[in-house]
Amino acid sequence: MPCSLLCIAVLFLGIALWIYNWRNPRCNGKLPPGSMGLPIVGESFQFFSPYTTSDVSPFIKTRMDRYGSLFRASLVGRKIVVSTDPEVNRFIFQQEGRLVQTWYMDSFDDIVGKENILSSHGFLHKYLRNLILNLFGSASLKERLLSETEELTIKNLQLWSCQPGVELKQAMATMIYNFTVKKLFSCNDSRSAKKLRACYSAFLDGLISFPLNIPGTAYWKCLQGRNKAMKVIKSMLEERRASPKRQQRDFLDIVVEEMKKAETILSEQTALDLLFALPFAAFESASSAVVLALQYLRNNPLALAELTQEHEAILSERETEDSGITWKEYKSMTFTHMVSSTTFHLRLSMKLIFRKVVKDVQVKGYTIPAGWIILACTPAVHLNSDIYEDPLSFNPWRWKGRELNAGSKFFMGFGSGARLCAGAEFVKLQMSIFLHHLVTKYRWTVIKEGDAVRQPGLVFPEGFHVQISKKNSYQSVAEQ
Ligand code: HEM
Repeated sequence: MPCSLLCIAVLFLGIALWIYNWRNPRCNGKLPPGSMGLPIVGESFQFFSPYTTSDVSPFIKTRMDRYGSLFRASLVGRKIVVSTDPEVNRFIFQQEGRLVQTWYMDSFDDIVGKENILSSHGFLHKYLRNLILNLFGSASLKERLLSETEELTIKNLQLWSCQPGVELKQAMATMIYNFTVKKLFSCNDSRSAKKLRACYSAFLDGLISFPLNIPGTAYWKCLQGRNKAMKVIKSMLEERRASPKRQQRDFLDIVVEEMKKAETILSEQTALDLLFALPFAAFESASSAVVLALQYLRNNPLALAELTQEHEAILSERETEDSGITWKEYKSMTFTHMVSSTTFHLRLSMKLIFRKVVKDVQVKGYTIPAGWIILACTPAVHLNSDIYEDPLSFNPWRWKGRELNAGSKFFMGFGSGARLCAGAEFVKLQMSIFLHHLVTKYRWTVIKEGDAVRQPGLVFPEGFHVQISKKNSYQSVAEQ
């Protein structure tokens, strides 16, 4: 046999073996059922396809029907197991730092930063989490953010009510963005704040898109947005470090102080990645939450009426109507918390929660080998008709008398355990304050809207255009 033919035969044999191994992965036990798709790309294209349905993604749904609650698949060259089982998800969250650790796609680390909190582990993770909770945790919400958020909400609603219409998704995002960058860098309304916002818009368009870094793709635009944003943030950090006397009592001051400490673990890169991630984590998700809640409420007059009554009752019990929401009042907004939980439950819990298996995991008679990735698919639990009656319907009353805390077995929209969302309480507060002022002081009509689309991040391509007008102070809910 000529030498070239032998080489081709060996090459084919090698490729065939490689494909065989890909399709039949090794495991010291029984792997969950499923298929591995094509080598390298796996089933990435199907996974990243946008969809408008409010149900679980078609990718997951078809595989659940075929294989059950635990199945294997592959994404961007990785072997993964998807869990749609509440017990398994809970177990996985509890094993953080032991059998599993957080994992994000390389492309996610490239765009959010390799030193971001989500990808950090151990002591650094705890340290960064505490820094964030100083700003967005319950103590700060109670002492400062409650009144500051309320002041801003009142001002903006007043402004929007003087306009013929407002695209609420963008308007809310701008409001929360301005608030967050003020708390972080004290750069409200400045040139830097506007420049930074434009970078974030480019960045968000490509977040969780297929990671193809070619000019013109969403992913490429996203990286460009990140690079530009990082330059702006870096120059703000350098400026503050160079002139520490110009303290603003903001988050940047805390970061600079921490970086100055002799045995600090806060490197410049970690600080920059943290400062970069926080504004977009805050404004994008909280604005989507408010818009979704309004879309649901609009189609559910009973829920809207009960919500309005709850807030009117709060006003009627006050000595002075405009005295501002107290922490006690905020905590008493039971139905409002049921409305926001339902909203998170239905549409906002679609974040992709990945864990990398560090040691072989045994669950439900299967083995998930070390090195594999687990996708804890919380929406599949939330939208499971065996657990919730009519799961896709907006039904705040289903939470009556139930545990509403984030992280419980059947409500994991904010994750669970050591990695529970550090901004969950902040989003809830934003929603409650906004709804309080909207339903007690204003009327709103939808002018134009479109479907929310998952790509798989949630976007509103046609926006949510509303007209907001002041209620007559003497009109009661029933007359509105
Ligand atoms: C509706 C809004 C939001 C949803 C549904 C959401 C969801 C989540 C989820 C599921 C996780 C856990 C990820 C994991 O376990 O791998 C998480 C973590 C996190 N979230 Fe949120 N989030 C929201 C809003 C926010 C906001 C407003 C902020 C910031 C102010 C924020 C900051 C964070 C941070 C810092 C973490 C990492 C926590 C850690 O690793 O210890 N989130 N979020």
